[in-house]
This record gives sequence, structure tokens and C-alpha cells, in this order.
Amino acid sequence: MNKKNMIIAIDGYSSCGKSTVAKALAKRLNYIYIDSGAMYRAVTLYLIENHLDQDLQKIKEALPNIHIEFHVENDKSIVLLNNKDVTEQIREMEVSEQVSTVSAIKEVRKAMVEQQQRMGKNKDIVMDGRDIGTTVFPNAQVKIFMTADPKVRAVRRFKELQKLGKKTTLEEVLENLAHRDFQDTTRKESPLIRSNDAVILDNTNLNHREQLDVVANEVEKAITKNE
Ligand code: C5P
Repeated sequence: MNKKNMIIAIDGYSSCGKSTVAKALAKRLNYIYIDSGAMYRAVTLYLIENHLDQDLQKIKEALPNIHIEFHVENDKSIVLLNNKDVTEQIREMEVSEQVSTVSAIKEVRKAMVEQQQRMGKNKDIVMDGRDIGTTVFPNAQVKIFMTADPKVRAVRRFKELQKLGKKTTLEEVLENLAHRDFQDTTRKESPLIRSNDAVILDNTNLNHREQLDVVANEVEKAITKNE
């Protein structure tokens, strides 16, 4: 029997540490890591830069002109928007504030989901996001749903932003996370929900290593099943 390519879907709330776990796992397994949130952020940045954030018709027309790619340089994942490195820019507060509105647009989701499915074709991948285990890859062999106490998440994100030299307050970050969670879980198009077959990983009190162990254990079971 032919071995199927492995898909590992990591979904969950904003700033739960999904990308940290996903990246570490991809590195350990030598799989490709795809940050689907970065794709929605890149679309949002494009719309902001081109002043299209309010105009649905223009957004639809712009979608074919938005090309997103990932490159790995010196172990760092680089996000390219129409060949320009936007890795840092897409983490700005202005993008964070608008991304959940943009990602609720049906046409934007359709375009991103198609691209994500193409990226995972015949490859072993780890993809993180909100709808990977439910919509993008409902047949993923491993599905993880990450969650953590909102205050703990906000403090982690605030520290990250501070390290990057971004000016913001803890209250602002907490508010942004709550707002994004609300929009992501209540939107009509593939809202953030836990797939019934996803394993819950609450990392409020877990360090990186412990989180990676939980996920790696699930992957091992799935690989054995796949063989
Ligand atoms: O993962 P990250 O927090 O960077 O994602 C930014 C935003 O992109 C999320 O708040 C969510 O609105 C949107 N998103 C999504 N579906 C995904 C990944 C991200 O709607 N698969």
C-alpha cells in the first residue's frame, strides 16, 4: 500500500503558541511548515497598502494580484508578498486589528484555502491556523486544537511585541486577542471551532518542551497507523 503524505493540522485561538509548536515539530520531522495566519495577514497588508480595506468589489478584483510565498532563510521563515519581504510588517498592530475582518470575507477565504491545499499536495506538512483541521484538510492525520488562558496568552504576545520593539500596552494586546477570538469564532465562513477528532492542547501551564512532547506523541501514533 502507498504511504499517504502526512498532514498535521494545528488550530486554535490567537497567540496560543501554535506557530512555536508547529515550527519545532516541522523541524524535528523535516516537514514543511505553513503559517496560514501569515497568509491572511499578507492579504490584509496588501489591502491596507492599496487602500482597499472597505471596498468588497475591489477586494475581489485584487485577489488574483496577491501572491504569497514562504521562503526559509537561515532557519527563519520569510513571508513574501508579491516578491517583497513582509515578514515583520504583517505583525504590526494595524494589520492585527484588521486581519479578522478581512479573513471573514468569503472570497478571501476561498482563495487562501485553495492555495493552502495546493501547498500541501503530496507533501508532508505542518500547517497552523483556525480552520485547517475542519476546512482546509478535514482528513489530516493529526489534528491539534490549542488553547490557553487569555491573560497568559496576552502576556506572552505582549512580551514578543516588546522584544520586537513594537509600541503597545498589555491592555491593547488583551483587547486585540479578545476581539480576534470573538470574530474568528462567530464568523459565518469556516469559523474557529474544534474538529471533533482534534486533540485539545491547553498550554496555560506547559513549557515548549512539554507541548512538543504531547504533539509528537500524537504524530508518532499517526505515523504508525499510516505505515
Ligand atoms: O495565526 P494568526 O494569529 O497570525 O492569524 C491572524 C488572523 O488570521 C486570525 O486572527 C484569523 O482572523 C485569521 N486566520 C484565519 N484562518 C486561518 C488562519 C488565520 O481566519 N487558517
